[in-house]
Amino acid sequence: MSAEPIAPALLAWYRENGRLDLPWRQTRDPYALWLAEIMLQQTQVKTVLPYYQRFLQRFPDFERLAAADIDEVLHLWTGLGYYARARNLHACAKVIVTEHGGRFPADPAVAMSLPGIGRSTAHAILASAYDQDWAILDGNVKRVLSRYHAFAGDPASSEGQRLLWSLAEAETPVNAAHDYNQAIQDLGATLCSRSKPSCALCPLQPGCQAYLQGLTAQLPRRPER
Ligand code: ADE
Ligand code: SF4
Repeated sequence: MSAEPIAPALLAWYRENGRLDLPWRQTRDPYALWLAEIMLQQTQVKTVLPYYQRFLQRFPDFERLAAADIDEVLHLWTGLGYYARARNLHACAKVIVTEHGGRFPADPAVAMSLPGIGRSTAHAILASAYDQDWAILDGNVKRVLSRYHAFAGDPASSEGQRLLWSLAEAETPVNAAHDYNQAIQDLGATLCSRSKPSCALCPLQPGCQAYLQGLTAQLPRRPER
């Protein structure tokens, strides 16, 4: 990486402008953080909020969710879409109760083996629940990193994935991954939007290669079909 590291400016921006009041940023409960990350995988924050509150109220922990009827879980999920997530959620709660003593596994390889949990989701949960220093790489993060580093390759290719993960790991600060992960999510969901990013307001603008080279409309490159 030749550019300035992202974390200092991003964290300063987040403390002033981040959505610090989101409910999953007010808890360190692994159950609540896991639920939030699954709901947020394919659904926007403002849609997730009421579902998250209702779900937590009805199923406050892994035991209660594991013991529930799948039909009731699906009913509470209605409207969120991608229903495989709800089935995986229920299956995952059962595995955590029966095989992990009701505690979300702290080892990322074990977490990633659970239903519905890929590398980025596992890392997001472990960083927020247990303060581990794992990088995340979802759509928002890919967009910010591709632009900041003017990565012009195909983000969906295996080479692109490898490169973006290595950028994500290099940018994630030691001892602050939780806040950094939340911060880069917020930047990607607000200022660094897919079309017409608000570069004039962006804390990363001085080092952003896409901005400096006038490439924000071209990056990230659309995946080949
Ligand atoms: N999208 C995925 N995880 C998120 C989080 N923790 N906060 C906001 N948006 C997200
Ligand atoms: Fe995104 Fe613009 Fe900020 Fe670069 S300067 S990270 S393109 S919002």
